[in-house]
Amino acid sequence: MEATPDLLTPYKMGKFNLAHRVVLAPVTRCRSYENLAQPHNSLYYEQRAAPGVLLIAEASAVSETATGYPQVPGLWSQEQVEAWKPVVDAVHAKGALFFCQLWHTGRKPPTTEFGAPPRLEEEEIPQMVMDFRVAARNAIRAGFDGVEIHAANGFLVNQLFLFFVDIGRVNSQPLRLNRLVNDGLNDSSSLENRCSRLATDVVAAVVDEVGAHRVGVRLSPFAGYTDYTDADAEAQALHLVHFMDKLGVLYCHMVEPRKCVNGNRLSPFREAFKGTFIVNGGYDQEEGDRVVRDGYADLVSYGRLFLANPDLPERFRKKAGLNKYDRSTFYTSDPVVGYTDYPFLGQETQVA
Ligand SMILES: Cc1cc2nc3c(=O)[nH]c(=O)nc-3n(C[C@H](O)[C@H](O)[C@H](O)COP(=O)(O)O)c2cc1C
Repeated sequence: MEATPDLLTPYKMGKFNLAHRVVLAPVTRCRSYENLAQPHNSLYYEQRAAPGVLLIAEASAVSETATGYPQVPGLWSQEQVEAWKPVVDAVHAKGALFFCQLWHTGRKPPTTEFGAPPRLEEEEIPQMVMDFRVAARNAIRAGFDGVEIHAANGFLVNQLFLFFVDIGRVNSQPLRLNRLVNDGLNDSSSLENRCSRLATDVVAAVVDEVGAHRVGVRLSPFAGYTDYTDADAEAQALHLVHFMDKLGVLYCHMVEPRKCVNGNRLSPFREAFKGTFIVNGGYDQEEGDRVVRDGYADLVSYGRLFLANPDLPERFRKKAGLNKYDRSTFYTSDPVVGYTDYPFLGQETQVA
């Protein structure tokens, strides 16, 4: 009989052999000047790489209009592909697996006050779907093992999937988004039609481009990162998860706000998806062990803890103390501070 797994038990995700269940969550760091990965990006990921660790890179923009944050990497040009290559090579040289998150921010985050751009017209959707397809192809050309479609946290794919009412601008330029479908406007489309407008089209296109065996999708059916509201967000997410399952998507990555966790809220999604199921949102080692042991998830991704502890799996293994993350440097642009200067075990134990 197999022993009950915990966070440190090896796992096979599709054809990938993982040394344990601790995953680096995608974490935007705003240090990729001119939308190009830099040498310090290599160091950052290399620090977190080790044999059999799954690292998911920070969100990379799929087009020029997709970059809602400053200094985020892109994947729409050859120059960007070339810039990613040494980063991917550095991670692979340490035996880790590297997926790239593909992102279209849609509107700006809610802290930005801009007027509403014109609505997105239906005929513009194919270009956005194409942008995801090309970015996925570029990610594979850069050497990534796979891609993760960012359909979470209120960004574009999530927006049209969860149909936001309000919208914003990207880099002060009006971005023509949204209101394509809108619950609040009594849109009469079926759930399937509304959902398929962008999310399912993007997933299908990316799967077609690079193969389901190297595609993951990140969803946040309950997370209130931005101010979206939706009548049937969970039903739509479930619809998408069924769709992903039919296509044989490699993994489903669920972001859960901790305040919402009640131990089984993701179970319908877990049951609907035969591939690898990753959970995220405020986990520590104990909670991570618990969800793996209970079968609630196969893998657990860590954002802030992995950001601040480059050797997080090793610390879990040794039940060692953790560095504290410094929130004030999350989105600053320094190539070192708050980025590559978090100490490893045996070095100083505290940063801030
Ligand atoms: C600085 C920072 C940047 C983030 N960037 C991304 C991102 O690029 N893509 C994404 O899907 N989530 C992003 N997130 C969310 C994290 O992946 C994760 O869902 C969140 O931090 C909760 O997990 P944690 O409690 O383990 O940190 C970011 C979070 C932080 C703190």
